[in-house]
Amino acid sequence: MIADKTSALERRLEIPGRVSFMDGSGELPMLEIKTEWSTAEIYLHGAHVTRFQKRDEPPLLFLSQVSRFDKEHPIRGGIPVIFPWFGARAGKPAHGFARTTAWELKEITSSANGSISLRLRLPDGPAAAGFPPFTADYIVTVSETLELQLLIANASPDKEFTFEECLHTYFTVGDIGAASIVGLKGVGYEDKVENFAKKVETNEAINIPSEVDRVYFDTTGPVEIQDRSLQRKIRVEKEGSASTVVWNPWIAKAQQMSDFGNEEYQKMVCVESGNVGKNKVTLPPGKSSALTVKLSSAPFK
Ligand code: BG6
Repeated sequence: MIADKTSALERRLEIPGRVSFMDGSGELPMLEIKTEWSTAEIYLHGAHVTRFQKRDEPPLLFLSQVSRFDKEHPIRGGIPVIFPWFGARAGKPAHGFARTTAWELKEITSSANGSISLRLRLPDGPAAAGFPPFTADYIVTVSETLELQLLIANASPDKEFTFEECLHTYFTVGDIGAASIVGLKGVGYEDKVENFAKKVETNEAINIPSEVDRVYFDTTGPVEIQDRSLQRKIRVEKEGSASTVVWNPWIAKAQQMSDFGNEEYQKMVCVESGNVGKNKVTLPPGKSSALTVKLSSAPFK
């Protein structure tokens, strides 16, 4: 069924057999995208990609079985768009308002090479009061890979715009005990589990045997998730991003979260690409920035 909460203009953008609107969970409007390599789902609520799955592969993105799907709360799993702040902010929702705002679908493009791109825009609203005028566009390109681009433009004629941004990606793993994260050796980080202690990563391959919540700074290189259980490696390549966050809530946190199953920490890890903390972005008047992330996967023995 087609969601009637979407505008007639948005519905006109559908491409029969490739991109269709439907009622997603909680009757929130969702787009399903089909390419010759993959299927993806994206909600207008939060411009939230909840699914990307290649043919003959398990889902790349983890989505909680008990996620909330309503207009007030973020979806648990997939790719929450974190903007314009990361983490807690007094009196404000954690991780910014972008992930709980219904974005507008502006454009769907189908390329000759078979990829499909969607462009969404964060509408103006009261939540943005206090910030200089800006635009936030999100381009999601589905093919054999999933490419995400968050474009922020400072529309103010005279004020700087300072913000944080992060594509808070939840990846599926077969078993967290058989997964390692490679690509952060030598990088400095804040360990949120140890009261934001400043450390330097010493491991070539990071294992996750307990709660992990780390913000790695000044790191622009790719990161790989090596999953010996699903025999898959996932590659996270990025541009315009100086921070990488690694998060797994583990047992106690999982039990505290009402929208996350008690055992689900075994099946996921977040590897998030963005610009947060000391890597926050300051745009001069009239300038723009692009955060680009490309996700791909291949067999891993
Ligand atoms: C991570 C943070 O990015 O997001 C964690 O580093 C946080 O501290 C996690 O717990 C989930 O946040 P939320 O707001 O979606 O529960």
